[in-house]
Amino acid sequence: MIVDLIAGARPNFMKVAPIIRALDVRRRGGGALDYRLVHTGQHYDRKMSGDFFEQLGIPEPHVNLEAGSGTQAEQTGTIMSRYEKLLVAAPSEICVVVGDVNSTMACAITARKLGIPVAHVEAGIRSGDWSMPEEINRVVTDSITNYFFTTSEHANRNLRSQGVDESRIFFVGNTMIDTLLANLDRLREPSVWQDRGLRPGGYVVLTLHRPGNVDDARAFAGLVQAVCDAVRGLDVVFPVHPRTAKTLARIPRRPDNLVTIEPQPYLEFNYLVRNCKCVITDSGGITEETTVMGIPCMTLRTSTERPETVEEGTNELLGTDETAIRPAMDRLFAGGWKAGRRPALWDGRAGDRIVAALESILSAT
Ligand code: UD1
Repeated sequence: MIVDLIAGARPNFMKVAPIIRALDVRRRGGGALDYRLVHTGQHYDRKMSGDFFEQLGIPEPHVNLEAGSGTQAEQTGTIMSRYEKLLVAAPSEICVVVGDVNSTMACAITARKLGIPVAHVEAGIRSGDWSMPEEINRVVTDSITNYFFTTSEHANRNLRSQGVDESRIFFVGNTMIDTLLANLDRLREPSVWQDRGLRPGGYVVLTLHRPGNVDDARAFAGLVQAVCDAVRGLDVVFPVHPRTAKTLARIPRRPDNLVTIEPQPYLEFNYLVRNCKCVITDSGGITEETTVMGIPCMTLRTSTERPETVEEGTNELLGTDETAIRPAMDRLFAGGWKAGRRPALWDGRAGDRIVAALESILSAT
């Protein structure tokens, strides 16, 4: 029985790796499930894709749809038409999508329309912010999903309140955290560590890539300046996403303590996070990783689809107004940041639970 596993963009790769590992283990023990790894090609640069496959031990995809970049509709449409051709020629028993990127929604719609059931990993999370393409991807995907694999009680509640039957909700934990816990002992010093003479606790990590924060050059420059001004002379290490690089190129003057580097591979990026004073970000996934590592995290967004990282973890929402950054930094320097704890089932075994659930779902159909 073939399970399609869809991976398209950088944050997907950490989420599929533990599912693949669990499927491989089961198969070696005589399990009936086999998989087809489908890379949509949404992210195609070595630094956004290939490095992650290599470091996380993900096998070569069986299929690469090579969809590449484009507008929201172009990218979604290309993935849909290419995945449809694949499914018509060679159907699978179930389509497993992860996260909230365009590839997630595109493949879910395509499979369901061909009568192939859809399982969504990281289902049910909601930011309520309709300006984010990811929120639309989440809501559309969940509206046609058959089996919901969830990371939190918040997600379970969201799904129940939308009328999803309990029997279709599988609270399995967090595959991104499976990957983090499996790799904590393998983290690798990046070259910037020596180049800048970085020390544990002696720098801040910044990541920004949301269209709302990076597409407008003036607003983006204001945020970066405010971060660099608030950190009391520490280096601000900033791995620059390709989308952000386009805006950064239009900024004439950069603060002296801003250290821009290329997108980092998984092991090097998390080495930087594990050893920093704090992370300032607009990513969702990073707020989960900082929570598990106990690293203070400031999120430059007004909402989060992962409220457990704020309620239980080390994350705080600062909004997108640059004036919020200095007071938060002052609190951090005064030692007033929460330590946080790990949310339920973020224990490194989500991949195993997902595969066990898939086995029982498919054996019953
Ligand atoms: C996508 C996801 C976002 C995720 C992010 C992580 C959607 C709607 N968004 O946003 O949820 O957090 O990935 O990175 O799916 N580009 C390259 N090389 C690449 C990939 C992209 O240069 O390998 C460029 C593209 O040409 C484009 C820009 O980066 O101009 C944005 O890429 P895209 O995949 O459209 O969305 P992201 O902003 O990366």
